Amino acid sequence: MCGIVGYVGKKPVVDILLDGLEQLEYRGYDSSGIALKCADSIKVYKAEGKLKNLREELAPHAYELTKATTGIGHIRWATHGAPTVLNAHPHTCNCGNLTVVHNGIIENYKELKEELEAKGCTFRSQTDTETVAHLVASIYGQVKDLTKAVHLASEKIQGAYALCIMHNNEPNKIVVTKRNAPLIVGYGENEFYVASDIPAFIKHTKRAVYLSDNQVATLTPDSIVLEDEHGNKLEPKVELLPWEPIALSKMGYKHFMLKEIHEQPDVIRNILVGKLHTPEDPIVLDEVKLTRETLKNLNRIQIIACGTSLHAAMIGKYIIENFCGIPVDVEASSEYIYRKTVTDEHTLVIGVSQSGETADTLTAIKQSKAKGSHILIITNRPDSAMAREADSLIPVSAGIEVSVAATKSYIAQLTSFYLLALYMAEIKGTMAQSDLTALKAEMMLLPQKIEQILAHKEDIQKCARKYSGTRDFIYIARGINYPTALEGALKLKEISYINATGYSAGELKHGPIAMLDETMPVLSILMKGSVYEKLLSNSEEAKARNARMIALTNSTDEKLDDLFDFIIRVPDVIELLSPIVAMIPLQLIAYYIAEFLGKDVDQPRNLAKSVTVE
Ligand code: AGP
Repeated sequence: MCGIVGYVGKKPVVDILLDGLEQLEYRGYDSSGIALKCADSIKVYKAEGKLKNLREELAPHAYELTKATTGIGHIRWATHGAPTVLNAHPHTCNCGNLTVVHNGIIENYKELKEELEAKGCTFRSQTDTETVAHLVASIYGQVKDLTKAVHLASEKIQGAYALCIMHNNEPNKIVVTKRNAPLIVGYGENEFYVASDIPAFIKHTKRAVYLSDNQVATLTPDSIVLEDEHGNKLEPKVELLPWEPIALSKMGYKHFMLKEIHEQPDVIRNILVGKLHTPEDPIVLDEVKLTRETLKNLNRIQIIACGTSLHAAMIGKYIIENFCGIPVDVEASSEYIYRKTVTDEHTLVIGVSQSGETADTLTAIKQSKAKGSHILIITNRPDSAMAREADSLIPVSAGIEVSVAATKSYIAQLTSFYLLALYMAEIKGTMAQSDLTALKAEMMLLPQKIEQILAHKEDIQKCARKYSGTRDFIYIARGINYPTALEGALKLKEISYINATGYSAGELKHGPIAMLDETMPVLSILMKGSVYEKLLSNSEEAKARNARMIALTNSTDEKLDDLFDFIIRVPDVIELLSPIVAMIPLQLIAYYIAEFLGKDVDQPRNLAKSVTVE
């Protein structure tokens, strides 16, 4: 989390930094700040809240700051210390000569702080980052060389970080380094950019170097000196980024989330192109680099992910087990990395991540890779850190997702899981040809079905209005749609802040039913198939406790009218594909409730699009 950007060159730096930070706002938006090398000092400007506050803060100084051509900037997602101006980056040493922006967490900051305080440093913020400013400055006092000081400081720092550092005595220079956090250097003409993600500088250059862990780069307008952790010089490997500058536009929609929900039919169409030609043809999935022989003998899969991607993984488990008969374990990456996991070269490990940068998932992937597992990554960012760890890479190609709440990337992950499961089932011969053909034919109809739902979104809007005053919300489902209930609840809580929970309906009577009364909305994801009748009984049980019952269903059964206060009907779909169809109204309910409550839909409080801290 947090976004960092830096520039050294000949152009006025302020707008470069502000525009870059704007592109990184998805990484956090608690506060922002910039540091500029001016004539005889480094000037720091900070503001609490969104970037527009920093722009306002800078406006009165616009003219005097145009001369600055070297600077660093930061947009913060608070980890240590409240989102205040004092805790906003850049942080400086006590004399103000050295300034730093940081993405990540300095794990041993308390020990370092004690040492530095004993040496006379005074801390002004509650952040872990300020220790870096004092540490590098104190080493600089001895070695009088910023690059050397950064090397020596890195040896003492534990944790994850991407750092950009400037010193007043070494003008027109930024020293940068990273460990377990992304940092990319962009090459211009007599200028260099640095950022935690490509959108920050893609409109200026497409030539870039991805820094590896522990490397240190010294940037001046005319040169980059790249060194490994021991100070040995390295030849930078310049890559041409496969990116076009993206004009992020809401295309007339009120929020990016609504636009992204509407893009989902095309997202599915795009994914299917070249992979699913006709229901009769086998799935083409060249991205999977396991041999047919290995796939045939594959008898264990682990899937690791977080948040929405974890819910996609849970559905992935359901369909892989159903189609291929391979046992699949699914685990939250944050749990996976802190226990003794049993994985080896015979296990396929699948990492799922929209951003490809989620710290917990990245660590989990690295751990299982070290144990010899084949790593398959499903991500919307083929240029991400996770993608670079992949043995097999399935890019989900949902297009850039701006809204923090994942919608189209989730549907894209699910579509990719279906393709993967079908592909493996065809190779393993675990499904009857007629079932395969029927399923593929149904998959091809999914975009139209979503379009039908979107065409009747006013009904869903009505439902959202009706229940927007609630404090709590329960989603129930069974079988393949249990993760849909979890995801529906996650969507609602993250953008409306309503206490929403997803339950397996069979578990309701084992505790949660105690919460039900006439104030509690219970939304039942009642899709026709193996658990329909069971879920109907569970819904009756909730109704008997006076809950406010809502059905999301593809059934036309009239008896539902007596049981439910509100019914959202979706086009008919086979049970195995129902998670894709069922999710669309749940995204819309969350969206309309949050919009009705006047929440900041695209940038909900406390969240960030890319979670690069553990
Ligand atoms: C989704 O709406 C959330 N913002 C969040 O749960 C997200 O899915 C999670 O942080 C994982 O991110 P990733 O897919 O980028 O790894």
